[in-house]
Amino acid sequence: MRQILLIISIHLLFSCNRHTDNTKVLQNRIDSLESKLADSYKPGLGEFMSSIQAHHSKLWFAAQNENWKLADFEVHEIMEAIEDIQKFESERKESQMTGMINPALDSINNAIQKKSLALFKSSYSLLTNTCNNCHRITGFDFNVVKIPDSQPFSNQDFRLNEPK
Ligand code: HEC
Repeated sequence: MRQILLIISIHLLFSCNRHTDNTKVLQNRIDSLESKLADSYKPGLGEFMSSIQAHHSKLWFAAQNENWKLADFEVHEIMEAIEDIQKFESERKESQMTGMINPALDSINNAIQKKSLALFKSSYSLLTNTCNNCHRITGFDFNVVKIPDSQPFSNQDFRLNEPK
């Protein structure tokens, strides 16, 4: 009986040790994953905004050329960037306010679907005003966006190259 008890306790002692070993290994892996995650690249809000700025400008020239397919593409790029801001910049208080841009984006989408340049122009003003409203209320009022005067990229043709 004594022998059996001794064997059981030795066995328990070993399995307990193995358990602590496993916990240590797991903890080390978690620590190393955490430090890798902390070092991984994540675009900042300003970088997302610079991308939105480019799409905002391209959107204008696509519509001016009545290239509605490109306009549709550009407005969706803005929508994706807004979703990415909510996902990757959730800790910034401004990310909670991105919903304010939705009515303007809906209005742009509607103009594109109707292929109406007149509707597009008023929606685009609404959009641009919304950009600036957010900049104003978040303390970035020195960041003013406007309707662009000239095409942003000389290496892109904004005209539609197929029959309308
Ligand atoms: C929900 C609020 C919000 C909305 C809506 C918004 N922005 Fe911004 N924007 C910001 C904030 C905050 C910054 C400053 C980011 C930073 O900290 O770097 C910024 C910065 C910028 C910058 C400066 C980037 C640079 O490095 O020069 C541009 C350009 C810009 N936004 C364009 C736009 C455009 C175009 C729109 C509309 C289509 C828009 N933003 C809509 C909040 C907003």
